[in-house]
Parts: sequence; structure tokens; C-alpha cells
Amino acid sequence: MAIFPPQTRIWWNEPVAKAELVWIAVAFLWGLFMFFMMIYWHIYGKQNLSPVVGRIDPAVFEQRTSEFAEKFKVREEGNLGIPVAKPTAGGDAYMLARTFEWWPVLELEKGKSYKLHLSALDVQHGFSLQPINMNIQVHPGLEHIITLTPTEVGTFGVICNEYCGLGHHVMTGRIYVVEPGQGR
Ligand code: CUA
Repeated sequence: MAIFPPQTRIWWNEPVAKAELVWIAVAFLWGLFMFFMMIYWHIYGKQNLSPVVGRIDPAVFEQRTSEFAEKFKVREEGNLGIPVAKPTAGGDAYMLARTFEWWPVLELEKGKSYKLHLSALDVQHGFSLQPINMNIQVHPGLEHIITLTPTEVGTFGVICNEYCGLGHHVMTGRIYVVEPGQGR
């Protein structure tokens, strides 16, 4: 904040230096180029997902996820007894985000496709699947439906990469990928 008014009051009528105009033009063209790169990468770069997104009441999403977890539960894990749900191949899978957990744990079969439904119950969270680094913003009130086909067997971690509160750094989840017809 300036204490005294500037010496030249009508500064916006001064001519813009040529170098500045050139930089404005360069920045504009670069911005335009990067805009079209987003579309290019979406189609050819396999970087961006093609989710279906719709509105959903968080209470309804919570209800559907708990029904899903109950129906497909194969075991429980950890001290808290977090259910591990193994959905039917080709079917729907649900995972919800809430402070501070991803729930439930999923067990999927390699090479099978699933419709993964993702949403949050309270605040915005960031779904980050590691180590393959697939990232999705998860908002309360919005449901992402992603067609997911695991290509590798293993244990994949889900971390939260959107700051959501004091427990943000402990907000983890898990997805197991197993060979078809096998369990863990
Ligand atoms: Cu959830 Cu950070």
C-alpha cells in the first residue's frame, strides 16, 4: 500500500513498451497452445480420464457405498475392521472419501472392467492412486464414475492429495488387484 499518491496519476495512458507487448503476445499464444494440448493429451496421451460426473446427495452416496460394502464383503482388515469388498467383474464398485479415510478397501480382478463410483461426504478430497499416479478431485455432491480395468496384479495405495484437515496426511485407502478367480 502506498502512502503517497503516484507522481503520474494517469499512468494507464502511457504507451506500453514494445518488449512488454511482445511478452503479452507470447504469453497469450502459449496459453492458447497449452489449451489445445489438453485436448491432444486427453485423446493421445492417455493422461486424462473420461469420467462421467453427476450430482448426488452425499447421504445417498453413503447409503449406496455401505450397501455395496455389505453385499460384497469378503473379509475385514486392520484394527478398525475395514471391510474389503470384492465386486462382481464388470459391475459397480464404490469408494467414498470422508475425513479421514477412503472406504471400503476394494479387491478387483486383473483384466476385468469395473465402474468405480467415487464421491466425498464432507469436504473436497483428492483421490490419488499410487504408484500409477491416477488423480481425481473428489467433491461432496458430485459423483465420478470411472471405467477402470486393472492391468497389473498388486497392492495399490490411495492417498489424499487435497488438503482436507488435520488428518489429511493419514487419509489412505487401498485397492488390491488379484488374478481372475483368485483371492488373497
Ligand atoms: Cu482428504 Cu486430504
